[in-house]
Amino acid sequence: MIPLSLEEVGRVASGELRRGSGEEITGVTIDSRRVEPGDLFVAVGRGVEFVDEALAAGAAAALLPVDAFAALAGIAREVRGRSSAKVVAVTGSTAKTSTKDILAALCRPHARTVAAEGSQNNEIGLPLTLCRLEPDTEVAVLEMGMRGLGQIAELCEVARPDVGVITSIGPVHLELLGSIERVAQAKAELVAALPPGGVAVVPAAQPDLEPFLTREDIEYYRFGEGGDVALSSYAAQDGRARVKVSAFGRPLTLEFSFSSRYNATNALAALAAYHALGLPLGKAGRGARHVQLSKLRGEEVPLPEGGLLINDCYNANPLSMAAALEHLAERAGDHRRVAVLGDMAELGAGAASYHREVGAAASRAGVDVLLAIGPLARGYVEGARGVPVVRWAPSVEAGLAALRQLLQPGDCVLVKGSRSMGLEAIVEAVAVVPA
Ligand SMILES: Nc1ncnc2c1ncn2[C@@H]1O[C@H](COP(=O)(O)OP(=O)(O)O)[C@@H](O)[C@H]1O
Ligand SMILES: [Mg+2]
Repeated sequence: MIPLSLEEVGRVASGELRRGSGEEITGVTIDSRRVEPGDLFVAVGRGVEFVDEALAAGAAAALLPVDAFAALAGIAREVRGRSSAKVVAVTGSTAKTSTKDILAALCRPHARTVAAEGSQNNEIGLPLTLCRLEPDTEVAVLEMGMRGLGQIAELCEVARPDVGVITSIGPVHLELLGSIERVAQAKAELVAALPPGGVAVVPAAQPDLEPFLTREDIEYYRFGEGGDVALSSYAAQDGRARVKVSAFGRPLTLEFSFSSRYNATNALAALAAYHALGLPLGKAGRGARHVQLSKLRGEEVPLPEGGLLINDCYNANPLSMAAALEHLAERAGDHRRVAVLGDMAELGAGAASYHREVGAAASRAGVDVLLAIGPLARGYVEGARGVPVVRWAPSVEAGLAALRQLLQPGDCVLVKGSRSMGLEAIVEAVAVVPA
């Protein structure tokens, strides 16, 4: 972290500052178990109970903030202001974390890069990521999530991104936003926040977003069919993908360390942002081989007797369900395709029909066995015409019992549902435990 003196911390973050073992801070944490010497421990929520522990662990100081979000934002804003790094922010209805991970991997061989860990994308995770900027950091790759209007704008006010990536617009958090137009409006706050001369990376075919792309003092890089960066071909083999793209008029062939078509799409957005950072397109292959996706996103786990499980239970929405089912079809080859799908949360009034649509997508993907879990998941069953074996279970526990009966040697199994469903319990129960 770009160091700040305690006096500077006091100026940008209001609250009670308890001194520990230092005059300046060289890191910020909200987890007392992760305190390193020189850190500022910020007590968020029940964190106040761990202030003594943090100081004993070597924290330079502890802050008991008046408003934790405001304090973290104040410190992060200060660090960002002192950094000469180029900042990229990634938002979108789905694929934020994966695109962020791919972009970070592309940048690392060429620039000292700090990227958000996992899915750190809110009023806590974003400032904590900015507080990892070092004096010599050249690129920061941030993720921005939102559940309502104004939230991206607030995160941008702290991060001041130079490049903004919008991965996709879709029916996510509809319960709170009401309509897809509103989702587009909320994501477009990132475009509005760019400085003159900044670059917005946006999908080439996204009519909902177009009304918000009116600024003439920034550049737009479009990805996807017909865009500045487009996919020419995709071939997966042995957990790797050979991807040919046309990027700003030149052909590139890249080998990526993932094997899902949807991540090839994400790579297009990442390549556009990489180019916006001034990094050499001709050398993008160096980082492509080292992409490390965050956990629970299409992670492959062996099953007993030669089966394979795709653990994609980090989250689910209509866009990501459709993509994951297509991936199941491709990955399974001639093995049985088993889809274990839990409820999709926060879809508002249209929830039932979105679930039916995903059921239909399972049918189109040639799913052989559909196991739907949770009250809303009944909609999958209704939509899944033509799927040979369809079962429904009210809970994860009942779902696990059903799965044990359905599984056959060699099956390829996708497990996916909203975070709140906790489907990872199923993965843990059926996967081969590594020796
Ligand atoms: N380009 C894409 N289009 C549709 N679904 C996608 C795409 N990329 C990833 N996904 C699906 O979305 C899931 C979540 O991806 P992630 O990158 O964690 O998104 P977010 O950070 O926006 O929640 C993935 O595991 C995959 O199932
Ligand atoms: Mg995420």
